[in-house]
Amino acid sequence: MKGATPAGASNEQEAARWVRGMFGRVAYRYDLANHVLSCNIDRLWRAHTVRKVGAILDRPEARVLDICCGTGDLVLALAGRRRAGVLGSDFCHPMLVEARRKVERRGARASLFESDALALPLRDASLDLLTVAFGFRNLANYDAGLAEIRRVLRPGGMAAILEFSQPPNRAFAAVYNFYSRRILPWIGGLLTGHREAYTYLPESVRKFPDAPQLAADMGRAGFRNIEYEYLTGGIAALHVGRV
Ligand SMILES: C[S@@+](CC[C@H](N)C(=O)[O-])C[C@H]1O[C@@H](n2cnc3c(N)ncnc32)[C@H](O)[C@@H]1O
Repeated sequence: MKGATPAGASNEQEAARWVRGMFGRVAYRYDLANHVLSCNIDRLWRAHTVRKVGAILDRPEARVLDICCGTGDLVLALAGRRRAGVLGSDFCHPMLVEARRKVERRGARASLFESDALALPLRDASLDLLTVAFGFRNLANYDAGLAEIRRVLRPGGMAAILEFSQPPNRAFAAVYNFYSRRILPWIGGLLTGHREAYTYLPESVRKFPDAPQLAADMGRAGFRNIEYEYLTGGIAALHVGRV
């Protein structure tokens, strides 16, 4: 398989079904687990992403979509910088329900819709910016994901992929791997009652292409002006590329 490979899934359909079901089970506690497990650093990573794409967000006519939006944290961060609003999509209904609740509570200018990121209900070349935070790694086929992102972006449009990565410093990677494989599943299980979701997380990060590889994959998919930067020593990486 060329994408997420949860244990037990033997094809892309099964992998996608497993991922959707797993996020559906943890949706109601997803935010709490996220912020506790990352000591709230995930908020800084999203804020950094918003700054990185700020020039596009500041253009009133720009069309912006956050895919795999989950409970909507990046949608809200993007919407906070725009008068014209943003779109958010995800294929997991319970995650979108949480997102809608937050959008309504904050009165944010965001429209949400349910969709598979591998088959977006959008015309070719219809967006100026597409973002994805910690969702790309879960796609059942990364090449198909990049192709779909590229399809919906206009010439000059930008993709921003914020994703967990592998710290390049070996000593730091060893400490982080100990945390993510031994401690994180235990705390995640305690907070959500679904330890398998937090065993899958470090496993999926380990199997995900490292930052230089993802940049190369974006290049092969037809993106240009590709840049990436490590965040927090490489626990996460932000890739951007233009169409
Ligand atoms: C780790 S969560 C990230 C949520 C949010 N972007 C954030 O920053 O917290 C991953 C999300 O990706 C969604 N997802 C995974 N594969 C997807 C697909 N093929 N299409 C749409 N959403 C998908 C899941 O349902 C889940 O809500």
